[in-house]
Amino acid sequence: MTSIIERLDKTVNYIRSLSASKPAIGIVLGSGLGNLIREIEIETEIEYDSIPYFPVSTVEGHHGRLIIGSIQGKPVVVMAGRFHFYEGYTPQDVAYPVRVMKALGVQTLLISNAAGGLNPAFRVGDLMILQDHISLFTINPLLGKNEPELGERFPDMSEPYSLTLIEKGEQIAARLSINVKKGVYAGVTGPTFETRAEYKMLHLLGGDAVGMSTVQEVIVARHAGLQVFAMSVITDIGIREELNTITHEEVLQAAREAEPKLTSIFLELVKQL
Ligand code: HPA
Repeated sequence: MTSIIERLDKTVNYIRSLSASKPAIGIVLGSGLGNLIREIEIETEIEYDSIPYFPVSTVEGHHGRLIIGSIQGKPVVVMAGRFHFYEGYTPQDVAYPVRVMKALGVQTLLISNAAGGLNPAFRVGDLMILQDHISLFTINPLLGKNEPELGERFPDMSEPYSLTLIEKGEQIAARLSINVKKGVYAGVTGPTFETRAEYKMLHLLGGDAVGMSTVQEVIVARHAGLQVFAMSVITDIGIREELNTITHEEVLQAAREAEPKLTSIFLELVKQL
């Protein structure tokens, strides 16, 4: 089998053959949160399907692409469409693009996602800056042989989300008069939304929001030494007593509505990096 180092080399050589850009900022956009793409001065767009060793899409007609370009003059690489564990990808596949970003020169990773609210003070449409996460039932993407070239065997996770970037994010939000919460993201596999008992449990365990992405990407980003900033859009409120259903459409709709706030914070943050 081709080693991870060889695979990364081939992936990066292919991307470099199409773009000479040296992005220092990588961005992963969550479900219903793709509007930031409109702010990119696009240099190159590469279909995931055409990139050697990129995970192969499991969803018919759902082809993501890697966008290389600049935002506010800063070179960026943006994933339009991410890979989720619940789609059947391995945890290593889910996080592979983060390794590719690192190999392209990325030092800072910005991530957005849609999440369910566990903190009773949260409302649909709120934004939450991730201070920390709890990996629950997600599989660690670093399981298996460690490749010292990519990072250490036992990475420290005391600061998964950069304290400096959290502070910057809060300052930007205040300046733009955008109300943001801070909290702990509980990462689960999905694809089911949680039962009422599970929402309650996740809150008791210390989660403020719950979602099906991000954690594996952040683990690999920290392994690779990237600094990370992540924000959730609260798209539904899980913790509530009354019987009440959650649909994917509702999640997407809430994400779309809150998106302009998130996009303006990300834009300003990119400017300041
Ligand atoms: N649970 C898990 N993942 C989610 C949710 C939720 O309530 N909302 C958006 N992503």
